[in-house]
Amino acid sequence: MAASLLLHLLCCLIVFLLLLLPSHSADPDPLQDFCVANLSATVSVNGFPCKPASEVTSDDFFFDGFTEEGNTTNPFASFLRPANVLTFPALNTLGIAMNRVDIAPGGINPPHSHPRASEVGVIIEGKLLVGFVTTNNVFYSKVLTAGQMFVVPRGLVHFQLNVGDRKALAYTAFNSHLPGAALVPLNLFASSIPNEVLTKTFRVDADVIDTIKSKFKS
Ligand code: GLV
Ligand code: MN
Repeated sequence: MAASLLLHLLCCLIVFLLLLLPSHSADPDPLQDFCVANLSATVSVNGFPCKPASEVTSDDFFFDGFTEEGNTTNPFASFLRPANVLTFPALNTLGIAMNRVDIAPGGINPPHSHPRASEVGVIIEGKLLVGFVTTNNVFYSKVLTAGQMFVVPRGLVHFQLNVGDRKALAYTAFNSHLPGAALVPLNLFASSIPNEVLTKTFRVDADVIDTIKSKFKS
């Protein structure tokens, strides 16, 4: 009896300790105050090596890349400006990043996923249909306006469509310094995946695949 109680307590302790491990978080925790990325370092590590602290200045910790509206004159009629470790090296190791999202009326931020982060977003202006799909193909969506927020669990396919009659602006944030973005249409139709894979996958003739691929030729 006492042995089974002890075993039970031990199991609880193990589960508790496992929960404390960072397996449920995105990027690992930082080990120092900051580690402004040296993007040109030749050494290759998981993340980026730190610029020497003696070379770090106030300017490293500020980013003005969100001050200008994105140019939405493109086939998706949307523009995403990322503030991630590549554009804002002070984010290195901090496990955070943001995007400025501009979408013209009728424009779309097409279905995509972030392999390394969950996403949270707030609408600043305009009207967006935001949605994501689970791994069981369940679709969750809502039309949001200024001040409203959404969340997309890590790795799930999601989009935003401007359903208003004026431009929409949103800011999104991620729990990774480099969340990555896998755009479904580009992954499938702008990569070198063989046509045979696509015709078999979508059960259509080659000309259908050729037509779709032609839309994504740069
Ligand atoms: C929106 O989905 C974004 O990735 O910023
Ligand atoms: Mn996203």
